[in-house]
Amino acid sequence: MEANRERFLEELFGLIRIPSVSADPERKEAMMRATEYLRDNLLASGADRAEVIPTQGHPVVYAEKILDPALPTVLVYGHYDVQPAEPLELWESDPFEPVVRDGKIYARGADDDKGQMFMHVKAFEAMVRTGTLPCNVKFMIEGEEEIGSPSLKQFCLDHREKLAADVILISDTTMIAPDIPSITVGLRGLAYMEVEVTGPNRDLHSGLYGGAVMNPANALAKMIAALTDDDHRITIPGFYDDVLEVSPEERAEMARAPFDPEAFRKSIGIPEEVGEKGYTTPERVGIRPSLDVNGIWSGYTGEGAKTVLPAKAHAKISMRLVPNQRSEKIARLFTEHFPTLAPKGVTVEVKYLHGGEGYVSPITSVEYRAAARAIETTFGKPPVPVRSGGSIPIVAVFEEVLGIKSILMGFGLDDDAIHSPNENFPLFNFYKGIETIPWFYHYYREMKVEK
Ligand code: BES
Ligand code: MN
Ligand code: MN
Repeated sequence: MEANRERFLEELFGLIRIPSVSADPERKEAMMRATEYLRDNLLASGADRAEVIPTQGHPVVYAEKILDPALPTVLVYGHYDVQPAEPLELWESDPFEPVVRDGKIYARGADDDKGQMFMHVKAFEAMVRTGTLPCNVKFMIEGEEEIGSPSLKQFCLDHREKLAADVILISDTTMIAPDIPSITVGLRGLAYMEVEVTGPNRDLHSGLYGGAVMNPANALAKMIAALTDDDHRITIPGFYDDVLEVSPEERAEMARAPFDPEAFRKSIGIPEEVGEKGYTTPERVGIRPSLDVNGIWSGYTGEGAKTVLPAKAHAKISMRLVPNQRSEKIARLFTEHFPTLAPKGVTVEVKYLHGGEGYVSPITSVEYRAAARAIETTFGKPPVPVRSGGSIPIVAVFEEVLGIKSILMGFGLDDDAIHSPNENFPLFNFYKGIETIPWFYHYYREMKVEK
């Protein structure tokens, strides 16, 4: 067992060393290598077959082991692509050379999602080797999650038969703390926009023209400010029309999940929490939509001063949505509304980059109960159901196209710094995941077949 622990980690490190950044066209070769590495590992781990299937974008790794078509089938979903590692100078060690410090693996993808997805591959291997695999297993590991999974819907439509399963099992979310296990029962949707505000036909001398010309950067700042009011509500007309208000009973239930505001503030270095009036911090993230500037640029941003009145200003603005809001509709409302905020003297262009829908999972299903029992078995206490603020848009597509519900059994922690410099994943969580996953299969088979 000790030897396996070391080997499992070494194999994960091999995967992490491949810089599979889906957003970077220069990393195409690394994307290919990551798929081959996974395919070979899945075969060596006991899959009957494993293949790399091309899509319109980055390929999908598919593998399966079918024991008996009459048994329940678990489809494991994960992603081998990672976010860009930049800014590199903020990393304490090479993002693509994993190291263990203070019991944590430090690297891009250590948690999101190579570390978490690979727990499933190794749990699968352990079940195969010990002859204890109780269900059929399929793996679908994609390479475009971090760029909005543009090709995966078509992939699902093209491979419906192949992907047929009873449940989709995913580890790509967080738990509350190592001693407070949880299962994610909600994800937010997303509408991601890019805006461009144009003023004069070239950058101008800010002395010769300043005061007489509408500055697009000034205009953009005002327009963004107008998107929310003093109560931190979003002002786009119709924005809240489809938001389902959560009942007081359910809110009371949600409030039982432990949350420490002091620790929250400390962990991210903020003096106080700010958000929509009338809601707690977990509610603002879990059951309410939000709007944020993700990037903003215009004019001179280099060292020192340059007196310039820029010709253009840009921003990337994302809206996190709750279940029942539709991303297409929200994108349309934004596109119609944003230009109306423009002062005289500038023109506005809005682009919809990508979007996806939220998700809620029932806590009464066999699938949820099997996951809860698995966690209770290895953590010694039952998991708390939590609605997360993050998004995995493909989960709603799985439900719509394949008709399969997903279980979000994540083992990450909020401190893992996913998408940030010094991303990490505690060894404890990695091994606890590998230990817990087989119990899911065990209870799932028991509850589905032998009840
Ligand atoms: N694994 C994350 C999503 C996540 C993390 C959900 C933690 C819940 C808890 C995923 O890889 C991710 O980053 N999703 C993007 C989606 C986007 C690129 C379409 C996100 O949430 O920003
Ligand atoms: Mn992820
Ligand atoms: Mn991610």
